[in-house]
Amino acid sequence: MILPVILCGGAGTRLWPLSRRAFPKQFVPLIGGKSLLQLTLERVADLANQPKREVLCVGSEEHRFLIAEAMDAAGVKGEVLLEPAARNTAAAMALAALQVSSPDHLLLFCPADHHIPDSTAFCAMVLDGAPAARAGAIVTFGVSPTFPSTAYGYIERGPKNQDGSFDVARFIEKPDLASAQELLLQGQVLWNAGIFLCTAATLVSALGLHASDILAQCRLAMTNPGRDGVFVRPQSKAFEACRSESIDYAVMERHSKVSVLPFNGQWSDVGSWNAVAELTPPDENQNRIDGDGFAVSSRNTFIHAPTRPVVALGTQDLVIIDTPDALLVAASSAVEQVKNVVAQLEARK
Ligand code: GDD
Ligand code: MG
Repeated sequence: MILPVILCGGAGTRLWPLSRRAFPKQFVPLIGGKSLLQLTLERVADLANQPKREVLCVGSEEHRFLIAEAMDAAGVKGEVLLEPAARNTAAAMALAALQVSSPDHLLLFCPADHHIPDSTAFCAMVLDGAPAARAGAIVTFGVSPTFPSTAYGYIERGPKNQDGSFDVARFIEKPDLASAQELLLQGQVLWNAGIFLCTAATLVSALGLHASDILAQCRLAMTNPGRDGVFVRPQSKAFEACRSESIDYAVMERHSKVSVLPFNGQWSDVGSWNAVAELTPPDENQNRIDGDGFAVSSRNTFIHAPTRPVVALGTQDLVIIDTPDALLVAASSAVEQVKNVVAQLEARK
């Protein structure tokens, strides 16, 4: 049995002004009227315990109704672990591993904000990873890199195993540009897709080895958690005292028993406005128009205009995101900096 665990507690600040603290990007209807969280839940539903289609969501207390709504819309059941504060993915995954009833349960950790259109290929890839995960590995899934991104983790492949997976020689979380360029030249690397398959026991023991303080705080937080229908609430004081670190830095870079399966299907972390733009097909001038936008004598301009006409005239390499109460106009090359701008806006308040 596989229990999909959906991590949906991220802030998604790089997609401001569409993504807001109270309504982060994973809940925003982005593709065909569905949110990325709903699409993620639909994608993993066939892997989950049938006929209940049981999943576990881990997210913020503040978003509990948005999470429950997405689960309803996707037709899945299960519990929702509510974090009183964001402590990043190591703590979120630790809570999930401590919550499940059997240490032998296979957990499939999935980000809530990825676009993977071919669900069949995705499910086949996960099932291919199950034997290695049952044997005690943390299985990651790798995508062939197309440019030296500094927003992803890199996996250097080691020897191939009999089941088609590769040992991980080295895991490098978010390298700087020069290191990313060097890794690409090496040829043996994949992007980490941010999806992990392992048993609850494997994750708990890896956390015990590499991040024992995070595990200890989460154990405390999960002693007599509060329960209210599907909502499960860890003890807030204990959880708030937990160190905030991503699973990639806390465990993946340090752990020896990690393997990787290459994924050849289409995959995108819808992490920046350039990635969102790519969901809309380009016209002959590489302009992409989502909604009531109009690009005249323009090239490579993305317009998101859901409610009113937005015109770009003579523009190039530009992103225009219109919302009822805020407007973003950014050079395509600068979109990774949107999250810094959000921090500056918040500091102004
Ligand atoms: N519950 C919970 N709590 N979820 C969280 C938290 C948290 O505190 N922080 C982040 N998440 C969720 C996000 O919503 C997202 O679905 C997922 O965890 C991954 O977090 P990101 O913040 O999006 O990570 P990233 O994109 O910077 O990096 C990770 O993913 C890349 C691929 O998309 C890393 O694993 C990289 O190595 C990887 O390449
Ligand atoms: Mg991400």
